[in-house]
Amino acid sequence: MTSTVPGNPESVFTYGAPQLKFGNGASDEIGFDLSRYGVRRVLVVTDPGVAATGHPQRVADQMAQFGIEARVFDGVHVEPTDVSLVDAIDEARSSGPWDAFVAVGGGSSIDTAKAINLLTTNPGELMDYVNVPVGKGQAPSQPLKPLVAVPTTTGTGSESTTICVMDVIAQRVKSGISHAWLRPTLAVIDPDLTLSQPPGVTAASGMDILCHALESYTARWYTTYDRKSPDQRVPYCGSNPISDMWSEKAMSLLAGSFRKAVRDGDDAQARFDMAIAATFAGMGFGNAGVHIPHANAYPIAGQVKDFHPEDYPGDEAMVPHGMSVALTAPEAFRFTFEASPERHVRAAELLAPGADRPADAAEFLPTVLADLMRDIDIPNGVGAVGFGEGDIPDLVDGAMKQQRLLATCPRAVTEDDLAGIFRRSISLW
Ligand SMILES: [Fe+2]
Repeated sequence: MTSTVPGNPESVFTYGAPQLKFGNGASDEIGFDLSRYGVRRVLVVTDPGVAATGHPQRVADQMAQFGIEARVFDGVHVEPTDVSLVDAIDEARSSGPWDAFVAVGGGSSIDTAKAINLLTTNPGELMDYVNVPVGKGQAPSQPLKPLVAVPTTTGTGSESTTICVMDVIAQRVKSGISHAWLRPTLAVIDPDLTLSQPPGVTAASGMDILCHALESYTARWYTTYDRKSPDQRVPYCGSNPISDMWSEKAMSLLAGSFRKAVRDGDDAQARFDMAIAATFAGMGFGNAGVHIPHANAYPIAGQVKDFHPEDYPGDEAMVPHGMSVALTAPEAFRFTFEASPERHVRAAELLAPGADRPADAAEFLPTVLADLMRDIDIPNGVGAVGFGEGDIPDLVDGAMKQQRLLATCPRAVTEDDLAGIFRRSISLW
């Protein structure tokens, strides 16, 4: 890819990642790990569903032998909102001070712990730090405390990233806080904790992993941005040689394990490979960034009316994050194909080794994705989760608000482009 800014192209990319402890039984060592930081009081952050598995309390209990007092806060709201985050922050502020935080759960718990860490170490209120134009986009002025992230669902990559995502209720929009200091200090990935994921959750969270890898692999190349000064550097700097390596390997691992993990959740090797793939994809997209499928996922999840997926608790209307990302992915990659045909073809080959390449190379990746989604029972497009032609203007509106993500797209994206992607995604096959 060549620079679109010949006078002043970027020449620098960055790579950041948490320390990592990976493997069956790794979550038994967190007390020891935190004792190395000299901490005395730890808040364990989780949601009620994960709390019921006993994992968070077990993590808290093991800390006593290292002289650490740990308390479990199980008030995380699944799919956090600005209101749920402020409640969690108030609770942590009034019961603090805390020396460190441990998040046990999915992306919701990890993101809530990031917000708690930020707002118990820095002055001001949540919206001061939320990305513009939704919030004020301030950067933290004070260093944060150690945060250990222990994912119990394979997918979000939140354990590797610098972002905290939330629904801002009054503005009916999903937004987030993005700053390098939000990245967890240590990610503890224990595949044993993911064995209990039912097939529907494995399918949706696996599509999230896959789209992290694919979107970061096809993201705008880092030298096609204008050169930044050191203080302007952002965590997401576009695809680059290092993020490519993680994304490609994640796709190869998914090719061998994704269908198996959905069909047989007790397949320990498939679970292990999915957990490794999630981690690798997180290392890639946590530095390169994601684009259209994730931008579209925000309004899909935020505007759903009456769909509730199998294998998810409760009965409230919701589209899980990974599913909302997947629903427009085939059409999004049909749109981005012309920006880097060789990358789209290479991604399809990695995801479906040995598959026949269609006569029109632009069809290859969308076909591979749709075949996979059909096999693992992801709904057939946004129509299958309740959206129709009349909803497209609102969906486009919501996606256009995610300019931070759309800026990573390898092609300029207009409202009409997004409307076309949504329209062709009403029914994918
Ligand atoms: Fe995601």
